[in-house]
Amino acid sequence: MASLPPIIRPETSDDYPAIHNVVRRAFGRENEARLVDVLRESPEFVPALSLVAETAGRVVGHILFTPTETTGGGTVLALAPVAVDPAFQRQGVGSALVLAGLAESRRLGYGAVIVLGHPDYYPRFGFSPAHEKGFAAPFPVPDEAFMALELRPGTPGGTVVYPPAFEVCDEDPGA
Ligand SMILES: CC(C)(COP(=O)(O)OP(=O)(O)OC[C@H]1O[C@@H](n2cnc3c(N)ncnc32)[C@H](O)[C@@H]1OP(=O)(O)O)[C@@H](O)C(=O)NCCC(=O)NCCS
Repeated sequence: MASLPPIIRPETSDDYPAIHNVVRRAFGRENEARLVDVLRESPEFVPALSLVAETAGRVVGHILFTPTETTGGGTVLALAPVAVDPAFQRQGVGSALVLAGLAESRRLGYGAVIVLGHPDYYPRFGFSPAHEKGFAAPFPVPDEAFMALELRPGTPGGTVVYPPAFEVCDEDPGA
């Protein structure tokens, strides 16, 4: 079962409990699972950018991108969170989710994606320190952990203003 390539598709309402459980298990706490629940109810939510990875009919991973304003007048997507069920990690599921999400983000016309996360993980998808692209975090964060990927040039930079829903996720909206 684990070796089957995952199907990546937009979530449906039937997936909500499974998504909550996968995110909770991946992070080992409730915060990020609740963040997904809250963002889904927020005005910024884009259903096409809440994707699940399904293997043998089971949801084993999830990723969410949420439109977020910058003080420079742009809109970027915040990637947060991405989660893979611990039993299915290191089998390419997370990469499949990120790549599918970036492709859909590009198709929808967004100019950039920002992420606060592991500096060893995201550069493989083209992310680099966000300050190099003119984006700043609204809270203190190590330079290398706040990353951006431009989907097309010219997205106005500035400080990223996370929607209020992100406050549910503790002190910072880590991906
Ligand atoms: C991060 C996560 C989504 C990756 O999913 P995955 O399906 O295991 O990822 P893939 O199989 O596509 O890629 C595995 C690679 O990611 C690396 N990786 C996984 N988790 C990592 C982490 N926390 N930090 C750095 N690298 C990580 C692995 O070393 C592996 O690298 P390699 O291919 O060079 O050996 C998953 O491990 C997860 O859900 N983690 C817990 C939740 C979390 O921390 N999410 C946010 C990450 S910023």
